[in-house]
Amino acid sequence: MSKFTIVVDNLTARDLAVEHGFALVVDCASGRFLFDTGAGAALLPNLSALGIAAGSLRRVILSHGHFDHTGGLAALAAVVPELEIYAAPGLTCRRYSRHPGQEPHELTIPAASRQALDNAAKFQEISTFREIFPQVFLTGPIPRLSGEDCGGPFFLSESGPEQDFLSDEQALLLGDGTLVQGCCHSGIINTLEHCRRNAPQTKIRTIIGGLHLLHASPERLRQTVKYLQKLDLQQLILGHCTGAAAIEYFQAHLHCPVRLARSGEIYEL
Ligand SMILES: [Fe+2]
Ligand SMILES: [Fe+2]
Repeated sequence: MSKFTIVVDNLTARDLAVEHGFALVVDCASGRFLFDTGAGAALLPNLSALGIAAGSLRRVILSHGHFDHTGGLAALAAVVPELEIYAAPGLTCRRYSRHPGQEPHELTIPAASRQALDNAAKFQEISTFREIFPQVFLTGPIPRLSGEDCGGPFFLSESGPEQDFLSDEQALLLGDGTLVQGCCHSGIINTLEHCRRNAPQTKIRTIIGGLHLLHASPERLRQTVKYLQKLDLQQLILGHCTGAAAIEYFQAHLHCPVRLARSGEIYEL
C-alpha cells in the first residue's frame, strides 16, 4: 500500500494555500518522494500545515518544466540542501502558451528553480522508461503514437512557429498500480500505452493528478472514455488542469468512482 498526499492543487479540501499548480507527496515501500512542487508560494506553507517536514523531501520528481510544477523547487532547495532530482531532458527550455487574441504567456521554469536544479546534489536525467527504485517507475518522455488529439497552444518562443510538444514530460508509475500525472500534456491514452508496453506486469488501478482536458473537444473526451472503459480501473482522482467538464463527463460515463483532487486530501491505495 502507498500513501498519496496532495500538497498543492488549484482547489483545497481544507484551509490550505491554493494556486494554479500541482504537488504531491508519495510514501511507498521505497521511501518518500515529492512529485512536482507547485508554482512556488504554496508548497512550504502547505507542507507545514499538513505536518510534513520539508527536510524529509530529498527526492523530487519533476513531471515537466512548466512553472506551475517547478516553481516551488527554489523554496524547497533553500531548506533542503541535498536534493535528488529526477527529470526528463529538455525541462529547462523556454516555453510559452499563445492563445488567439491574447499576449503570449511564459511557462518556463522560474530562474530561481533553474538555479536549484543546477545546484542539486544529485540530478538523474530520465530519458527512457526506468525503475528508479524498487517498484517506482518513471516513464521518461512519452511518445505520442495513439493519434490522440493532445492539443494545446504551446510554443518554444513568443512569436515563432515551433510548437512545444512537451517532450520533457514524464509520469510516475508505482508497481502496486497507481499512475501519478502532472499535466498529462502527452495525453492519457499515450501515457497508458507507454506504461503498458514498458511495464506490462503492472495493472494500473488508479490515476491521480491532472489530465489537461480543460479545452478538450467532445470527440477527445469520447475517445478517452472509450479507452479507459477497457481498463480495470478502480478510481480516478483528478484535479489541477483536468477541467470540471471533463471530470463530470468521466463521472457520467465511467463505471469507477471519479473524484475531484484537492490539496489536503490523503489517499492510501
Ligand atoms: Fe500544470
Ligand atoms: Fe503543464
